[in-house]
Amino acid sequence: MKPINVGLCGVGTVGGGTITVLKRNAIEITRRAGRPIVITMAANRDLIRARELCGDDITLTSDAMDVVNNPEIDIVVELIGGTTIAKDLVLAAIANGKHVVTANKKLIAEHGNEIFTRATEKGVMVSFEAAVAGGIPIIKALREGLTANKIEWVAGIINGTSNFILTEMRDKGLAFNDVLKEAQRLGYAEADPTFDIEGHDAAHKLTIMSAIAFGIPVQFDKAYLEGISKLAAIDIQYAQELGYRIKLLGMTRRREQGIELRVAPTLIPARRLIANVDGVMNAILVKGDAVGATMYYGPGAGAEPTASSVIADLVDITRLHTADPEQRVPHLAFQPSQIADLPI
Ligand code: HSE
Repeated sequence: MKPINVGLCGVGTVGGGTITVLKRNAIEITRRAGRPIVITMAANRDLIRARELCGDDITLTSDAMDVVNNPEIDIVVELIGGTTIAKDLVLAAIANGKHVVTANKKLIAEHGNEIFTRATEKGVMVSFEAAVAGGIPIIKALREGLTANKIEWVAGIINGTSNFILTEMRDKGLAFNDVLKEAQRLGYAEADPTFDIEGHDAAHKLTIMSAIAFGIPVQFDKAYLEGISKLAAIDIQYAQELGYRIKLLGMTRRREQGIELRVAPTLIPARRLIANVDGVMNAILVKGDAVGATMYYGPGAGAEPTASSVIADLVDITRLHTADPEQRVPHLAFQPSQIADLPI
């Protein structure tokens, strides 16, 4: 069986997790994908660190374009983050006819429309399960499991770092900055933690879910966002006394004026299931007209949970690799010609 060759760009926490899980579960993954999935090349700025994680079987380079320009590579996995080098890389991979898997929520939320248009023109897939809620397969749930439904709303705790901070402040009375440092030490926080605590990270993920749920282009610039940095221990304490929990909640719903996208600290009655989602865990509620309210819970960050989603996309693409491009699931449920500036 000819293996599918994967090129990994960025060998950090998630890249390391992807290498480990692909090796450990190679038999199951090969069976499910129909052929072996092998990382043959990886790019990282720090080659010494990358060598430790990659072992001797993977060719290493410090220039990610070497991966993208390698004719032997079938799928490029982008785990670099940000929107400068990562965007150039993804567009170059698409131009070279390669499928792309990315965990980069900022890239998809801010440049997804352009990326999907290019990918559709080239007949390649761009998959991003790992970009939203780490290990929770919410993109597949929205796109496949709930495909019969008209989605009414999606709401969730989708930033593990903020949820960890709010939980530790409530349960241990710790100060905001001390808990943030701990989240950084544990590898949950973004390189710039402002993204976590001011709601940008959650808004990126919400934007992506909204696009899939409502069949609209990604519209991050229309999102209302408010973070948790202004919350004091006393707010959390008062909420507790009144029978509520404060959660950083992302919510997108269809309204008469258009699609609402909002991230803000929200009071939730303590008896609700979602109010009891603590620590770095994420939870997403989706209301469909046929199924009613459903909830998806799991780790929203971390090496192996996020790798679980990266590999799910690799398996999907491997299965589809030989399929007729016309038969593939579209990136979003709209055609490039329909991209419009929808009112929010
Ligand atoms: N910084 C993100 C979080 C990582 O805390 O949820 C996963 O996207």
